[in-house]
Amino acid sequence: MRTRRDFLATASLAAAGLALAPLAACSQETAVPGPAPAGPAPAPAAPAAGPLIARAIPATGERIPVIGAGTSGSYETALGSAEYQTLKETIRVFFEGGGSLFDTSPNYSNADEVLGALLDEGGWRERCFLATKIAADDRAAMEAQWAESQRRLRTERVELLQVHNLRAWRIALPYARELKEQGATKYIGLTHYVESGHAELERLMRAEKPDFIQVNYSVNAPQAARSLLPAAQDLGVAVLINRAFDDGKLFAQARDKALPGWAAELGIGSWAQMFLKFAISHPAVTAVIPATGKPDRQADNLKAGTGELLSRAQQDELIALFA
Ligand SMILES: NC(=O)c1ccc[n+]([C@@H]2O[C@H](COP(=O)([O-])OP(=O)(O)OC[C@H]3O[C@@H](n4cnc5c(N)ncnc54)[C@H](OP(=O)(O)O)[C@@H]3O)[C@@H](O)[C@H]2O)c1
Repeated sequence: MRTRRDFLATASLAAAGLALAPLAACSQETAVPGPAPAGPAPAPAAPAAGPLIARAIPATGERIPVIGAGTSGSYETALGSAEYQTLKETIRVFFEGGGSLFDTSPNYSNADEVLGALLDEGGWRERCFLATKIAADDRAAMEAQWAESQRRLRTERVELLQVHNLRAWRIALPYARELKEQGATKYIGLTHYVESGHAELERLMRAEKPDFIQVNYSVNAPQAARSLLPAAQDLGVAVLINRAFDDGKLFAQARDKALPGWAAELGIGSWAQMFLKFAISHPAVTAVIPATGKPDRQADNLKAGTGELLSRAQQDELIALFA
């Protein structure tokens, strides 16, 4: 089904002269209400984020909400600490606001252990589209790491297993494929986090055709839109966006800047919502995974997954503002 949002996004890109593949499954989207609250003990109501846009994973057509969550930094805290208690509330806001996708990695210190405990204690695992990574140099280390990931995440299987930053990909990718065949992961992917890695990521995406790629894309680092994102759309590869806030640095850059005048018309009330809306306005993008350990920021981030997308002209205005 082609929605008005698809049309607006496609029309604005076409108007800017960008070559687009015919609308692929990954650009199909629907607004889905968040799941009904269940499981965890009652707590103060989560701020309403409204229905989140969901997009299809091209490999299967399975839909996931466009706003996911990362764990780097923000989930690296001691189990049972005061910050851990705050994370309990943060994750509740995320799931009750309709979120599903969490991205972690065995090399974010103890973030995966914290996430595993929070999913378990809150009863959220069944709602979670859980993504983690392989980040090791040889087969023995990868096998040990995967076993440890299962223990720390408190789950036998994940939804997505990605090769972290293409590390030892000649060994890691066949291993990920084996785990997929065994049912330990539903999808496999390749990640990178800096623009200098995009060419190699694109080369491998074309050669190996993973289900997903994960890459950085933000108003101050928009190069992925030149070739990598259109290629992913052509190939039918799902795309996760990391570092949409440039690790938080964009907030310092935005401190003395007012939101553009058109923000309110689109229901955009903060720079966080604007930066995330920028990421999901590219039609190749399946979801963006901002990390936060704070409930109010989590609610703010979810709001970016509702309403109209940005036009090409609005995207270009933001790129110029943060160049
Ligand atoms: N190679 C890879 O595979 C790779 C590389 C990088 C990232 N990633 C993934 O992508 C995720 C996102 O990237 P990232 O964590 O590096 O950076 P990011 O999402 O661009 O920025 C995170 C920072 O923004 C702050 N923040 C979040 N929401 C906010 C809001 N609404 N208002 C103000 N500040 C806000 C967070 O602080 P608070 O926690 O204090 O709110 C944190 O300092 C990671 O967590 C990870 O899962 C993967």
